[in-house]
Amino acid sequence: MSSFSDAMIFLREFVKNPRQLGSVIPSSGFLKRRIMRAAGVHQAKTIVELGPGNGGTTRSILAAMPADARLLSIELNEGLYQLSSGISDQRYIAHHGDAHELAAILSQYGLDQPDVVISGIPFSCMEREAGAALIERIHGLLQPGGRFVAYQVNPRVDQLNTFFKADNARSVAWEWLSIPPLRVWRWQKQTAA
Ligand SMILES: C[S@@+](CC[C@H](N)C(=O)[O-])C[C@H]1O[C@@H](n2cnc3c(N)ncnc32)[C@H](O)[C@@H]1O
Repeated sequence: MSSFSDAMIFLREFVKNPRQLGSVIPSSGFLKRRIMRAAGVHQAKTIVELGPGNGGTTRSILAAMPADARLLSIELNEGLYQLSSGISDQRYIAHHGDAHELAAILSQYGLDQPDVVISGIPFSCMEREAGAALIERIHGLLQPGGRFVAYQVNPRVDQLNTFFKADNARSVAWEWLSIPPLRVWRWQKQTAA
C-alpha cells in the first residue's frame, strides 16, 4: 500500500477517534530519526513499540535495529493494526491490543525484557492513574540500562513519570521539523549497582 493511502487511513481513524490517535498525521522523517537516536535502536536487542499507527515509525525501527534484534509493536486501533501487521520482517511481531497489557503480551510471545520501549501513545488522553501505572510497568519491565522514549506534544507523560530516579536519567529535545512540533523524552533505567 502507498504511504499516501496509509496517511489517508491514519486521517480516517483520527476523525473516528481523535483521543486515541492524538495526532492527525504520522510522524515526519526528522522526528523518526530523532526517536531512533534517542532510543539507541542500533544497539538494542528487544524493542517494544507502543502505538505504531500506520507503521512508519515501525519501518524506521526495523531499518535501524541490528539483524538479530526483535521488535514487538502493540496497536489498539483495529484499522491501524491492519497496516502495521502488513509489514513483513522475520524480526517483527505485530500485536493487536492495549499497551496496558504489556507484561502479558511480552510473555505471550516468549520475549525477553525489552531494552528499548518507544511510545507514541497520547498519555494526555488517558486517566492520570492509568498513565502513571503504564509508565511504572514500563520501568519495571525494562532491563537495567534500558531506554524509554516518548514523543508527545503534551508534557503529561513527563509529569506522570516519577519512576526513573537517577539524576541523569532524563533528557528531552524538541523536534521542530514535525507537524505539530513536539518533544522527544528519553529516560534510562539505572544499571544494577
Ligand atoms: C500519535 S499516533 C503515533 C503513530 C505512529 N507511531 C507515528 O509516529 O506516526 C498514536 C498511536 O497510538 C495508538 N494507541 C493509543 N492508545 C493505545 C494503547 N493504549 N495501546 C496501544 N496503542 C495505542 C493509536 O491508535 C495510534 O496509532
